[in-house]
Amino acid sequence: MDDGRGRGGGSGGGGDGFITLDRVEKVFDVRRKAGFLKRERQRVRAVDSLSFTVARGEMVGYIGPNGAGKSTTIKMLTGILTPSGGRLRVAGIDPSRERTRLAHRIGVVFGQRTTLWWDLPLIDSYRLVHRMYRIPDARYRENLDRMVELLDLGDLLDVPVRQLSLGQRMRGDIAAALLHDPQVLYLDEPTIGLDVVSKTKVRAFLRELNAERATTVLLTTHDLQDIEQLCSRVMVIDHGRLMYDGPLAGLHEAGEGERTLVVDLERELPPIDAPAPARVVRVEGARQWLAFPASRSAAPIVARIAAEYPLVDLSVREPDIEAVIAKMYAGRAGRADRAAP
Ligand SMILES: Nc1ncnc2c1ncn2[C@@H]1O[C@H](COP(=O)(O)OP(=O)(O)OP(=O)(O)O)[C@@H](O)[C@H]1O
Ligand SMILES: [Mg+2]
Repeated sequence: MDDGRGRGGGSGGGGDGFITLDRVEKVFDVRRKAGFLKRERQRVRAVDSLSFTVARGEMVGYIGPNGAGKSTTIKMLTGILTPSGGRLRVAGIDPSRERTRLAHRIGVVFGQRTTLWWDLPLIDSYRLVHRMYRIPDARYRENLDRMVELLDLGDLLDVPVRQLSLGQRMRGDIAAALLHDPQVLYLDEPTIGLDVVSKTKVRAFLRELNAERATTVLLTTHDLQDIEQLCSRVMVIDHGRLMYDGPLAGLHEAGEGERTLVVDLERELPPIDAPAPARVVRVEGARQWLAFPASRSAAPIVARIAAEYPLVDLSVREPDIEAVIAKMYAGRAGRADRAAP
């Protein structure tokens, strides 16, 4: 079977869109306190003319600050929320119109809450999923065995969900979302509150799932290491609008990130007379740090320094993504707020 594993990186307008959004909007009418006893109606534009395409088998990071519209997008993609405008399709299905049919194609994990039955042993939740989705017995067994192995659930199956730790519960939730072989998996903060070991397990599992089954994954997270380790493409959303869509590396350029060249000289020297646009930002003994735009190659800078200075060693450090994104947001902070009267 052709599973069309196209990597539609970039702004992805390709025809093989498995998930497509075309100028999707979501407006909430809310009442907000406006002084003593007074309440004002406000319209919150949570998602604002959002368009993007995700191809089958892609693993895309979906990031942005609090309140950016990430969860709202995911809720529309599952059919929980109906868009106020625009067009949205997942596997050819309009989610809000055919939510049940779509449910067989998608898996969802909301890190903030569980879909498991709180008082039942983990395995009972899986048995219920088995029946709810009418998963063929052999398929169910096979998938369950695989999940138990990859997510290390063996000792947890008979434990009531409420007794599980957060990390254990999260792994249990991910398994539940995948027992029916969904073609796409939405993960909304799947590593929130997890320790390093659990995060590593979850990431390894997702990588394997994507490689083995070409499951399309849309991953929302505040942990940029999730993105670095899993996603070749990242979308940044802010105020309900798409601010960036492309490879992670390109985010550095968009945010005017800088790389750092760390140079060890034979001895302590005055700051290096570096070729522009590189400049010395720190000197400590024989070691000097030079910053230069992430979009530039380090080679000519290194060559100049090597020719003119007694060079012992050097290394290049990539910019910190979090800083890059913060910078990107700062650059656009002047825009009008999404809340309109
Ligand atoms: N049911 C709702 N009713 C009214 N406003 C809502 C509702 N759900 C979300 N919003 C508003 O829509 C905006 C986007 O919220 P959303 O939950 O999508 O953000 P998010 O990107 O997931 O943020 P976070 O990183 O904090 O999870 C926010 O301003 C939020 O207050
Ligand atoms: Mg959210």
